[in-house]
This record gives sequence, C-alpha cells and structure tokens, in this order.
Amino acid sequence: MCGIVAYLGEKQAYPILINGLRRLEYRGYDSAGVALLADDQLTIYKCQGKVSDLEAHINGRSTVANLGIGHTRWATHGPPNDVNAHPHQGTSGDLALIHNGIIENYAPIKEELVHRGHVFKSDTDTEVLVHLIDDIQRSEGVDLAEAVRLALANVVGAYAIVVIDRKNPDVMVAARKSSPLVIGLGEGEFFCASDATPIVEHTKNVVYMEDGEIAVLDRRQGLKIRNIKNQVKTPFIQELELHLEALEKGGYDHFMLKEIHEQSRSIRDSMRGRLNLAKGEVVLGGIKDYEQKFVNAKRILIVGCGTSWHAGMVGEYLFEEFARIPVEVEYASEFRYRNPVVNEDDIVIAISQSGETADTLAAIELAKGRGATIIGICNVVGSSIARVTHAGSYTHAGPEIGVASTKAFTAQVTVLTLMALMIGQKKGTLIGGNFHRLLNELDAIPDKVQKVLKTEAQIKYIADIYKDAPNALYLGRGYTFPVALEGALKLKEISYIHAEGYPAAEMKHGPIALIDDSMPVFVIATKGASYEKVVSNIQEVKARKGRIIAIVTEGDTVVKDLADHVIEIPETADPLVPLLSVVPLQLISYHIAVMRGCNVDQPRNLAKSVTVE
Ligand code: AGP
Ligand code: GLU
Repeated sequence: MCGIVAYLGEKQAYPILINGLRRLEYRGYDSAGVALLADDQLTIYKCQGKVSDLEAHINGRSTVANLGIGHTRWATHGPPNDVNAHPHQGTSGDLALIHNGIIENYAPIKEELVHRGHVFKSDTDTEVLVHLIDDIQRSEGVDLAEAVRLALANVVGAYAIVVIDRKNPDVMVAARKSSPLVIGLGEGEFFCASDATPIVEHTKNVVYMEDGEIAVLDRRQGLKIRNIKNQVKTPFIQELELHLEALEKGGYDHFMLKEIHEQSRSIRDSMRGRLNLAKGEVVLGGIKDYEQKFVNAKRILIVGCGTSWHAGMVGEYLFEEFARIPVEVEYASEFRYRNPVVNEDDIVIAISQSGETADTLAAIELAKGRGATIIGICNVVGSSIARVTHAGSYTHAGPEIGVASTKAFTAQVTVLTLMALMIGQKKGTLIGGNFHRLLNELDAIPDKVQKVLKTEAQIKYIADIYKDAPNALYLGRGYTFPVALEGALKLKEISYIHAEGYPAAEMKHGPIALIDDSMPVFVIATKGASYEKVVSNIQEVKARKGRIIAIVTEGDTVVKDLADHVIEIPETADPLVPLLSVVPLQLISYHIAVMRGCNVDQPRNLAKSVTVE
C-alpha cells in the first residue's frame, strides 16, 4: 500500500515528486525513494524512513531532471530498509520501477530469472517484476511498453507501477491492476500518482486508469492506453473536484485534530442535497435506480474493515429499526474466505473510506459473482470500490489524511442513516411523525457536534489523568455499542494503550474481572432506551472501584453522582447518538496520544489504506 508519483515534462521533477510523496505519505512511510533521469543518467536516491529522511539524504546532491518517479513504501515483502526501498532496477540498470501492490507469483518467476543469470539485491517482489521486464525487453528486442505488457501477462497479483528507461527519456509507462493509479494531463507534461492529491495543484485533468490497462506517456505522442490484451483504449478525461486547501493542516497540529474538528461541516456535506426538510424527503441520487431492490430486499449484508465495519454495525441497527430488513455485518476479511451464503436478492453494502481496502474489494467481487447487488459507501471519489460497485453514495467528508479514521466514520454513519430513513419511508415501516422527527433531528446534528467539540478543554484534562493507563475499557449498549468499539480502536491505534470495547451488559460475563482502581472505563450513558440498564452497569464498575468516565446527555444528574468524570453531549434521538458520542472518544484518544509523544497521524505499523490482504 505504497504511494507512487511520477512526472514527465519541462519542469524540474524532483520538487514535484517530493511534494507528491508528502501528500501520499499516509499510504506508507517506512522508506522512500526517487529515480531521476537526465542526460542519459539514471540516478536513484532511496533510504529507510520517512519522506523527510529521504530529503535529508538527498540534500546537496544533484536533482536536475525533468523526468522522475517517486515512492513511499509500506513493506509487504522484505523489511523496511534502504535496499528494499523503491525504485528498483533490473540487471541492465537501464530501468527504474516503482510499485504499489503484491506480485503473488514472484517466487517461481524469480527462480526462473535466477536460472537465467539475474542477480537480486532486495527481498522484494517488486524487484522480480523489473528484472522480468528488463529480461523481456532484451531477449525479445521490444520497446518498454511492450515489455511491460508481456511481463504483466505473466504476473498474478496486484499492482500499480510506473517504469522509466534510461535509453528513452521521452517516455514513461504506467500500468495497474487492483491498485489505484491516476494520470494527470498538464500542458506538455504528465503526472502519475496513487491518488489525485499530488496532481491537483498542477492540473485538473485526470484519467483514472482501469484494471488491466497500460498507459504510455510520451512527450511527442501524448497519452496512449492499451490493455494487457493489446487492445487500444480511449482515455476518459475527467475534471478533478479536489481543492488544495482541503489537503493542508489548516493551522491544526495534526491532520487528525483538524479532521475531528471538521466533523460539523463534513456531516453537513454528507447530507447536502440529500436531506430536504422542506419537502420532508431524503434523496440519494446515486442509488435511485436501486430503491425498489432495497425495498424488496430480504436481507442486507454489510462488509467493511476497522472503523468502516463499526459504521456498518450502526447501519445494522438503523436498517433493522427503520426498514425492518434483516442485516448481517461482516468483516470483509472473514466474509471473503468462508464461502458465505449470498443470494441474488441480497443487497451488499460495502463501506470504505479509502475505497481501496483489498479485503473489502475481494468481498465485493465474491458477492458480485453470486449475483448480489452491491452498494458502495466510499469517501474517495473514483476509488476502486466506488467503481466496482453497482451504485453507491459518496460520503463527501473530504480527504482524510490522519491514519485514524474520524470524520469518515461520522460521514459513513450519516449516509447509512439517510439510506435507512429513505428505505424505511419508502417501505412504509417508518411512519409519518417518526420519519419527520428524525429528519429534523438529523438536520440539527452538525450544530450539536459543534457543541460537543467545545468540551475539548475538559477532555484534555481527563486525558492527562489517564494518559499512563496500560488498559482501558469502553462500554456502550444498543446504538452506542459500536461506538464503544470505535472508541477502543482509536485509543489502541494511536496511543498504543490496550483497549477493549464491550456491550455494557456483557461486561459481567468476563471483562469485569479486569476492573480495579486503576482501570479507566469509558461508558456511553446517554438518555434513551437502555439508559437505566447502563446506569446499573456503571454501578457494577463502581462497586469494583473502576474509574468511570461517562458520556451523558446534557443535564444528567444520576450518572454525575456515580462517575469520576462526565462529558455532556446534547440530547438527540437514540439512533443519532453515535454521531455525537463518538466525538469525545476521538478527542480523548487524540490528546492521550499527543501526551504520550506518539505520532498521531502516522501511528506505527499502520497505513491509511490497506491495499494488501
Ligand atoms: C481506522 O482508524 C483504521 N485506521 C482502519 O481500521 C480503517 O478503518 C480500515 O483499514 C478500513 O479502511 P477503509 O475504510 O479505507 O476501507
Ligand atoms: N510489495 C512491494 C514491497 O514490499 C510493495 C508494497 C505495497 O504496495 O504495499 O515493496
């Protein structure tokens, strides 16, 4: 799940590559490298570490070139070190290649190439591919594009690659299968990148490559695309709608904090043009043609990973309550390998911020193969999942750069709420008053989120008290059980504190044994259907001297008397509580992680989009 970027034009390639790599660093950051081609010389700089380490490594050395490729790696084959960093080269030393993905059959290809005299320097699967292209180019006497095509015909796996050839400084060749690749078309210049963020400041004209396509970007002949079967394809040029300001930190210390604070706006954006209070309706243009299918569906399956899976769990409660359709929520990674029962009248909702998660993509392919209708809920426009689904609704949260998902979660839950409301109304399972009451409540959520964000100073104070805890427990019930899971995940991934999320009533079946006077227990105890029950669960924690941090509805006095700390959130309808109650948990994790000196935006061992199994 690396980030790749490439430039061919009249300008200096290096600054464009470095800037692009910084934007793509969320995709991987264990090593980085560039290859620059000028005056028949191919120069490669690469090293372990972040893009800033690469810059320091290059500092003072020559970078003059108007053709170059760059890579920021998240290792799959071979440890993160200088040698395994991309770009990689073949035996001739003429080619340089960057790769995002996995070459699954690298071992037999490598064996064959070793047999033919190739010597490998790294442990990567990527190096095998560049050796193969190099070998084919020399043995078949074909040009680079054809050598790439022939090589890829032998490859099993996932890739987005860009290759350059020392002998031909006018051309770069790019190809993709199951890993994203966007081409940018400027005035006499070309860009390639894993997503549009490195391109947006240079040109708005882009082509999203399709699986199995090979693009030749040629100074004289422009862009030509063929597929692996050598059929000519017509590039579909689109205009980017991404704005540069959305990619910067905007005065915040970290992207995660900026993204937490953006949620009032991003939730509003998720509803824009969809929730119409005046007409009393919800319109989701992207799934309009599938409304009837939803109404008739006997079952909905929801697939996703991590935070997106948590959003899916909220979706389960929403669809069952509003639309009375049975819902099953599945980890995409389990679903894809367990021969699940999928029927033609099932609807599968695939949820993914990045739209590139390999497990979710594979789950979609499986369900699609069995005839189900696939509806996507993605944040990244034009992403792979958005393109393989039959229909879908974008979350419109804007780019999420922090590895820990925040605004994408609330946007996913907002879209699921809109969907469930719409289907409930169409089915007649959500009658009049209730539907309109919920629409009004939903419309008020962005302002209420703004109010929750005002508790930040108090949250910081609480974070300071519990920042050194080795463990934490998160409890919720009903709609807030998935929020408890999400709160625990946030703490784990950015502060490295072990945390568990549990349904509050399940605590007594095991985790209660963990509770002592040093254990922080975060409880979502808002007014609603399970309030009294959760209060009893709080009593159980208190009896064991656990430290209780409760998220309560404004004005609550009962829990205030029991808990060590309370954080108040505005009152709303039960099904909408996740949208408000998750915000304090995001902030707690953020501040604890900062206080512990952790790298909030790029936590260890993680990457933003997990495009490998
Ligand atoms: C969230 O904070 C995590 N970093 C992770 O669990 C993430 O939600 C998961 O990898 C799924 O990603 P996606 O939404 O892009 O598919
Ligand atoms: N498989 C390649 C490597 O390990 C690329 C990794 C990736 O895209 O995640 O270097």
